[in-house]
Amino acid sequence: MLKALTFLSPIALLLTGCTTYSAPLVSATETAPTPLEGAVSSADPRATAAGEAILAKGGSASDAAIAVMLALTVVEPQSSGIGGGGFMVHAGSDGLITLDGRETAPASATGTRFLDSEGERLPFETRVTTGLSVGVPGNIALAAEAHQRYGKLEWAELFEPAIALARDGFLVNRRLHGSLSDRKERAAKTEAARAIFFGDDGEPLPVGARITIPDLADTFEQIAAQGSSAFYDANADALASYVAQETPRDGAMTPQDIRGYEAKARDAVCAPYRTYKICGMGPPSSGGVAVAQMLAQLERFDIAALGPESIEFWHLFLESQRIAYADRELYIGDADFVAVPVAGLVDPAYIATRSALINPTSALQSVEAGTPPGAPLARADGDEPPENGTTHFSVVDSDGNAVSYTSTVEGAFGSGLHWGGFYLNNELTDFSSSPERSGVMVANRVEGGKRPRSSMAPTIVFDEDGEVVLVIGAAGGPTIPVQVARSIIGVVDFDMSAQDALGLPLLMAFGTTVITEEGSVVAGMAQDLEAMGHGSVRLLSPRGKANALLRTENGWESAGDPRVAELLVYE
Ligand code: DON
Repeated sequence: MLKALTFLSPIALLLTGCTTYSAPLVSATETAPTPLEGAVSSADPRATAAGEAILAKGGSASDAAIAVMLALTVVEPQSSGIGGGGFMVHAGSDGLITLDGRETAPASATGTRFLDSEGERLPFETRVTTGLSVGVPGNIALAAEAHQRYGKLEWAELFEPAIALARDGFLVNRRLHGSLSDRKERAAKTEAARAIFFGDDGEPLPVGARITIPDLADTFEQIAAQGSSAFYDANADALASYVAQETPRDGAMTPQDIRGYEAKARDAVCAPYRTYKICGMGPPSSGGVAVAQMLAQLERFDIAALGPESIEFWHLFLESQRIAYADRELYIGDADFVAVPVAGLVDPAYIATRSALINPTSALQSVEAGTPPGAPLARADGDEPPENGTTHFSVVDSDGNAVSYTSTVEGAFGSGLHWGGFYLNNELTDFSSSPERSGVMVANRVEGGKRPRSSMAPTIVFDEDGEVVLVIGAAGGPTIPVQVARSIIGVVDFDMSAQDALGLPLLMAFGTTVITEEGSVVAGMAQDLEAMGHGSVRLLSPRGKANALLRTENGWESAGDPRVAELLVYE
């Protein structure tokens, strides 16, 4: 494994705050390998500690992941929580399953939810920071389903670390302070949230301040004692009435919408990549298909020989992204509502035709979606806005179970609506605002009871013996599948540690613009990429937020995004 790459910025070499839970060496003198102990990687050390505490008590990977999700509701409220949703990929002795806890549109929602009477998009604030954007939260239902399937500890025990954090308090780190400052309008929308996160002067509490959230501790205690029905039944009237009161037009959430919510078990999307099998989340997420396509389209190239400092590799990666994202825009929506040709999209023969579009020396000037086997007759591209507020965590336990869980409230602090001590998501803005284009329907249009398309890509990578080797995911809206695919390439092709793979630059094509991070090795290639036909390359501040666990001969390597690490301090 490479230990560090010379082109990484100093930031990339910082420790991450994601600690490994006792991963003992397998001694050479032992006759049989000792099972690896568990490990947790999350975006906040306090959430990681919550997961580790549950593993230490004998909890399963799923138990620990639930505790992490709950703890993140407290310490990383800008990114995720029980007011939002998520996807869990679980690998265990009973095989591989994904649980879909995606937020759901109210039954009365229609395709014109985000349009005015002229067919124009409603103003941003009306779409995002009102009850219009709030989907029925899914994380508690997902947790309950996961606990029923894979739980080893009592349900209530999983809430203990998060209750302690909310009740006893936690310190504001630089990251939370930065989010409260950057997204002040949304974070401080309600009096309830202002009382928690802002001082008497109306400014965000400073780094190092202690925050308690007694309402959230109460909510957790109620759900811990009564089960998920406390969230979806006992509180349904009160939650629906709050959201309805904040919804400026028809289509408000009702108690029936909340009572009817269910987490859904779905098949994973898997595809081979070299000697590995890459498995992730299918619809309503585009993540699993996009990661699988990007990698499979690159398989015919000797990426290892090119290396991470070659423009040839980054060019190929950009082309593979463009081709995969063209399909995603057209075909992926909630498969319970629209036919999604998942098998066709990852079919090797189809992938070969798509890969053949890649020219190793020049960029495609335009990329259309392909026609995979099973493609519907007509589909239009939607106009989904970009997103920004999510978290990923990975957990493995000593029984060999692995959980890859990405959790979100969509934008930072979600809709800004705050109820029961937590922020409510704005996930419904992940739908296309327009239901059709030139009379052709968009797969990801709003419909009652439907789940919006996601980019989240919780992923598990298996080796040729079927062993879990990498448990990975990311935050960052549409950049998520790109971050995940890049990091898998880092580990598989470049033989990197997980930490170095996560530190590889973000390079992503958005239409005719390419974004990358200033100071990265790719930034230095900007002019040459433009000369290859890649449109204009924009240099942005470092961005990316991935977490991963990598099996090594020394145990599990826990890796957190180096871009986030420096913000996880309390001074
Ligand atoms: O589900 C999705 O794809 C988005 N709602 C995720 C948003 C996100 O990752 C923002 N991250 N920083």
